[in-house]
Amino acid sequence: MTPAPPEPAEAETAALLAALRLQLDWGADEALAEAPLDRLAAPPPRPVEADPAAPQAPQPPPPPAARPRRAPAVAVPLPLAAAASLAAGAQSLEALREAMAQVDTPLRETATNLVFADGRPGAPLMLLGEAPGADEDRQGKPFVGQSGQLLDRMLASIGLDRHGEDAHNSFYISNILPWRPPGNRTPTDAEITLFLPFVLRHIALARPKRLVLLGGVAAKSLLRARDGITRLRGRWHELPTESGPLPALPTWHPAYLLRNPAAKRESWADLILLRRSIEAEKDVPVSPQ
Ligand code: URA
Repeated sequence: MTPAPPEPAEAETAALLAALRLQLDWGADEALAEAPLDRLAAPPPRPVEADPAAPQAPQPPPPPAARPRRAPAVAVPLPLAAAASLAAGAQSLEALREAMAQVDTPLRETATNLVFADGRPGAPLMLLGEAPGADEDRQGKPFVGQSGQLLDRMLASIGLDRHGEDAHNSFYISNILPWRPPGNRTPTDAEITLFLPFVLRHIALARPKRLVLLGGVAAKSLLRARDGITRLRGRWHELPTESGPLPALPTWHPAYLLRNPAAKRESWADLILLRRSIEAEKDVPVSPQ
């Protein structure tokens, strides 16, 4: 028996949902106007041409002047030098978070929450990802969605817990960008350049002994490398900092592992490198925060 054709109303709903799904697939998942706009509403009636000969009816008083609408927030890009000095002026993690919130970027218009960091500040290990996704944007914390949960499980397998009691077995985690790019698109070079001074200041204030760089964006932007993550991962690099070279281990981003489970073998090898370096330094005291 052939299924009955959908009712016209059902067909219309299905078509509207399909159009919405297409927009989501294109990354248009944010409402950018301040007020919703009903594009399906009937157009306003056209004014009727007045007959100049007709007697004039008494006119109603003019409506009170409409309150001027708040001008749409126009993001004025912060000159790079100003961003760098704003970052350099932050003397604590909290001050850095406030400074980052002041950076005027169009990303702020589409994101919900600034995503600063999670875990234990002062832990000898700091991880850096790319940018918040939808779950992180909602909760204001990095790596709390599906890829973050995979990352937590991977790190737990070598005895690391982001909220662990012992600093040696916990970690601190953040991203290159603090705002979610709309539709989870890859950060642009301009966005990365704008926030890089904040990332470097973040590292200086958190004072980790080693970094893990999750994915190509974090690895390439911090190591200023031309190579991609495929070539960079699997060995320690050195990030020059004010207090000397900081060991940095690039590895696959957990979101990549969700799409390519076969790469977990290589991530496991990277985790072993990481654990070895933590073990080698276990006797060195952790700096207080
Ligand atoms: N991917 C990232 O790079 N960072 C997050 O915080 C979440 C997903």
